[in-house]
Amino acid sequence: MKAVLNGLATFALAMSLAGVASANDDWKGGDAEKGEKVFKKCAACHTVEEGGPNRVGPNLHGILDRPAASHAGYKYSAAMTKKGTEGLKWSEDNLFAYLEKPAAFVPGTNMTFIGLKKPEDRKDLIAFLEKAAGHTK
Ligand code: HEC
Repeated sequence: MKAVLNGLATFALAMSLAGVASANDDWKGGDAEKGEKVFKKCAACHTVEEGGPNRVGPNLHGILDRPAASHAGYKYSAAMTKKGTEGLKWSEDNLFAYLEKPAAFVPGTNMTFIGLKKPEDRKDLIAFLEKAAGHTK
C-alpha cells in the first residue's frame, strides 16, 4: 500500500512539473474577492501589502513573477534558496502547483502549510495576489 501511495505521489509531482513545462492555463479565471478570504489562511504567516513586514514567511507583495527566495531581509530555507538560484520564478503556473502541496513542489521548504487542495481556491488566491500588487492580467 505504501509503495502504491509513493507511486501516486511521484506521479502527482511529475504531473505538476509537466504542467509547469507546458505552461497551462489552469490558474486562470479566479475571483479576487473570494481570494481575499482564502488569503486568511496565509495571513498568519504572510503580509501582502507593499512594504509589509515579514512574519513567519516573507512579505508577498508583487510575488507574481518574482524569483523564488528573493525578498530582501528574509531568511529562506536552503531548499527554497536553491530553487531560486536554479531559476524558479513565481509564475502563475508555478504558484498554482506550489500552493497545492508546498512540500512536494519544494521538498525541504520551511513553509509548513499543507496546501490548498481545491483548484478554485488557488485560482481565486492568484487573482487576489495579482490585484493586491496592482497587476492587471
Ligand atoms: C505556517 C506559516 C505559513 C503559512 C500558513 C503559509 N506560508 Fe507561505 N511561506 C512560509 C514560509 C516559512 C516560507 C519560506 C519558505 C522557505 O524558505 O522554504 C513561505 C514561502 C512562501 C512563498 C515563496 C516566497 C518567495 O519569496 O519565494 C510563497 C509564494 C508563499 N509562501 C505563499 C503562501 C500562500 C499563498 C499561503 C496561503 C495559501 C501561504 N504561503 C501560507 C510560511 C507559511
